[in-house]
Amino acid sequence: MTKPKILLTRKWPESVEKAAAELFDVTYNPEDRPMNRAEMRVALESYDAVLATVTDDVKTGAFTNLKPMARILANYGVGFSHIDVEGARAAGITVTNTPDVLNDCTADLAMTLLMMAARRAGEGEREVRAGNWTGWRPTHMIGTSVTGKTLGIIGFGRIGQAMARRAHFGFGMKILAQSRSPVDPAILAQTGAVQVDTVEDLLPQCDFISLHCPGGDVNRHLINADRLAMMKPTAILVNTARGEVVDEAALAEALKTGVIAGAGLDVFEAEPTVHPGFLECENAVLLPHMGSSTHETRVEMGMRALKNIQQFFDGNVPDDRVN
Ligand code: DGY
Repeated sequence: MTKPKILLTRKWPESVEKAAAELFDVTYNPEDRPMNRAEMRVALESYDAVLATVTDDVKTGAFTNLKPMARILANYGVGFSHIDVEGARAAGITVTNTPDVLNDCTADLAMTLLMMAARRAGEGEREVRAGNWTGWRPTHMIGTSVTGKTLGIIGFGRIGQAMARRAHFGFGMKILAQSRSPVDPAILAQTGAVQVDTVEDLLPQCDFISLHCPGGDVNRHLINADRLAMMKPTAILVNTARGEVVDEAALAEALKTGVIAGAGLDVFEAEPTVHPGFLECENAVLLPHMGSSTHETRVEMGMRALKNIQQFFDGNVPDDRVN
């Protein structure tokens, strides 16, 4: 039997590329560069499956008048706001993602950003590397304590819950949760979390706010100038979700003018371009979208994407179908 022809749109961890080659007729992207709209359309018309990432252009319009050969677009990643899933469905293409396997890893990075922003770790490191450190003194690099403070989590899905566990059990933080739907009381009870109805209810009460909601139009600029103004001036905002959830111009302004105290950002609206305002802010910790970037997690994500297409080609509904 001939193997399905699949395309990996970016370079994947070696062990997963090898696993893919055992099951499928694989085309790789040895140059590891993102694919533009036209290339993605050609790919969807030339392969049985396309295994894409957040950097590939499959947004609105990508599936219009397409004559796809591909019946499945398996995303290597949990977030799929970069994919026009309705357009894909209309074109007869199943879309899958890779949930669960990156929960802990992403929550670890959100906690890293929270700690770095609270303790001014980025600034401190820059000072040492620039040769500007003049030695210990009582008033040097004063940050803010984390232990016992209140963390607001917007989006209390699996990653939000993993963040709550770290903050609550590791740092004794009180947890407020905001989610579109009611959270199971048993889940809230695990970390003593209290669910609030609205983002507006949550923001003024929190010392730290961490975003774990989906991106896309539904949450575009959820954090805007008005909502930043509702936060405490001492508050720190962490975003490991999607860049579009935050109005970046408004956040840069808020960081510059002291509307809030700091931010830890792993995701940006126009990656890899970073809003120039952030680069001027010492109180912003900026990371290059590395929430899931451990060896173990990236392998698990790849294996999960392969499992989805294997299930599909075996005639089953893939576990992680999203459309
Ligand atoms: C994810 O899994 O959503 C990561 O952000 C990469 O897309």
